[in-house]
Amino acid sequence: MTKKMQDALNIQCNAELESFYIYLAMSNDLENKGYKGSAHWMSLQADEEYDHYKQFSSFISDVEGSVSLEGINKPTTTWATIQDVFESGLAHEKTISKKINALVSIAKLEKDYSAENFLQGFVTEQVEEEVTFRDILTELNMIKDNSAGLLMFDKGLGNRSQIK
Ligand code: FEO
Repeated sequence: MTKKMQDALNIQCNAELESFYIYLAMSNDLENKGYKGSAHWMSLQADEEYDHYKQFSSFISDVEGSVSLEGINKPTTTWATIQDVFESGLAHEKTISKKINALVSIAKLEKDYSAENFLQGFVTEQVEEEVTFRDILTELNMIKDNSAGLLMFDKGLGNRSQIK
């Protein structure tokens, strides 16, 4: 693996850990707002990001690279509404999609076919991540501040049983 590819993948390891941290902060805020089901969903979302980190770090070590951990920025800790939490989640996933696409471009430039192949799974994953957040937001925007609707919505998210 070239240094350029290694450095770029290493930055992504940190981006996945930052995503983990951001979703933990969202989960805490949802819990504080009384949305226990949504907090549970977001906590599993955080676990999924940690799993992404592990996939990146395993790939780096499989191709004889090394992972170097960096500091993680303090995340936002409170949002005005549950809609704002999921809006922020969608915006965050869009930034991650751009990072993954940029990594694919680097893999192509470096003629690193194994990295390109590895990254394709994340190209697909990012489409799914954005759809998931968008679907949740559509539902929330229909419910607005209807308490019965929010209660049912929260119960529904509480049924999530695993990361993907
Ligand atoms: Fe690691 Fe939600 O993308």
